Amino acid sequence: MKPSFDSRILLVGGPGGVGKTTLAASLGVALAEQGFKTVVLTVDPARRLAQALGFENFPNEVNRVPLVQGGELFASMLDTQRYFDRIIEKFANTPDQKKKILENPMYQIMVDSLGGSHEYAAMERLLEISQDPSWDKIVVDTPPTDNAMDLIAAPKRLADFMDNSVLSWFQSGGALYLRLFRAGTRIAMKALQAILGSDFLDSLGKFLTDLEGMQAGFQNRHREVLAMLRSKDCSFFLTTFPSQARWEDSGRLLTALAGESIPLRGVFLNRVEPQPTALNGDVSLSSEQRQEVEKLLAFRRQEVEHQKPWTEKFATLPADFLVQIPRQTQPVHDVASLSELGRILLS
Ligand SMILES: Nc1ncnc2c1ncn2[C@@H]1O[C@H](COP(=O)(O)OP(=O)(O)OP(=O)(O)O)[C@@H](O)[C@H]1O
Ligand SMILES: [Mg+2]
Repeated sequence: MKPSFDSRILLVGGPGGVGKTTLAASLGVALAEQGFKTVVLTVDPARRLAQALGFENFPNEVNRVPLVQGGELFASMLDTQRYFDRIIEKFANTPDQKKKILENPMYQIMVDSLGGSHEYAAMERLLEISQDPSWDKIVVDTPPTDNAMDLIAAPKRLADFMDNSVLSWFQSGGALYLRLFRAGTRIAMKALQAILGSDFLDSLGKFLTDLEGMQAGFQNRHREVLAMLRSKDCSFFLTTFPSQARWEDSGRLLTALAGESIPLRGVFLNRVEPQPTALNGDVSLSSEQRQEVEKLLAFRRQEVEHQKPWTEKFATLPADFLVQIPRQTQPVHDVASLSELGRILLS
């Protein structure tokens, strides 16, 4: 079936390192060239790609990307720290609570270490952008998670974290337990204090108390995110690579998506090895050179053979379409090469 990108929100997910960021940007270029006002929400692009998307000077802004073929393309990089701060601002019940959380050193530790907080920031940003009706298409690159369901589960995970017993334990008996810990009976806690400083437990206790009351906000957010992902407005595209490891990773992701009733719209099978052409007889090469080239061609043919059964397996997935994107011999870092890949995606 011909690829269709009729939804407004296009999520590009998949295992780590398969080309999600590259293909999300390519899709953005192609849609903009078709006349849609498009924004690409991207995560941690490689340096040269970031340059091409205009992030060099204004990493936190929505930047206009100049296109050779014309069209309105904008790109925005996800700065998780900044958006996490805004999330706290949104859900804090009072200005005082907001200030206390943002200034607490535990806050930074939590943002960096709590699983899913970066994914949560991505979701928050997406909800925000999707509420702006001026965008025709919103292409969303997703963070390199083994399990992209982290993205969907993140708001609930945060709500659970605030709900869980360790939290209430600290909140209810805070002062007493803190005194006990301070008595130094627990080696682990002492070690933590040594690493994080003597204010650590104080900060933790205060931080958890300040977070109190924010659970409901996170839980509602989880429902909003799910509703958006399940709506007709949103499509999920799996980016993957023809190998056993990527087949298995993708399977886990798709099972989790199905569990949340989020349909798979299309598959981008990336870096498919092109069939190498035979060495032309009239190319003038020494017999040694010819042997070297033949070895290389044999290696490439072998790669084609390795990929073949996995390509066939991916074709059986219950998606509306599958596009094969050939492995490019040049790096895909500029708008011209993104446009070339984008045209393959749309063809
Ligand atoms: N079709 C392709 N042919 C050749 N190189 C490609 C192709 N697609 C992507 N690449 C290259 O593969 C590398 C990884 O791509 P990219 O950063 O887009 O992957 P990713 O899935 O976003 O990774 P991560 O999971 O770390 O975010 C980049 O150097 C990119 O230029
Ligand atoms: Mg990426």
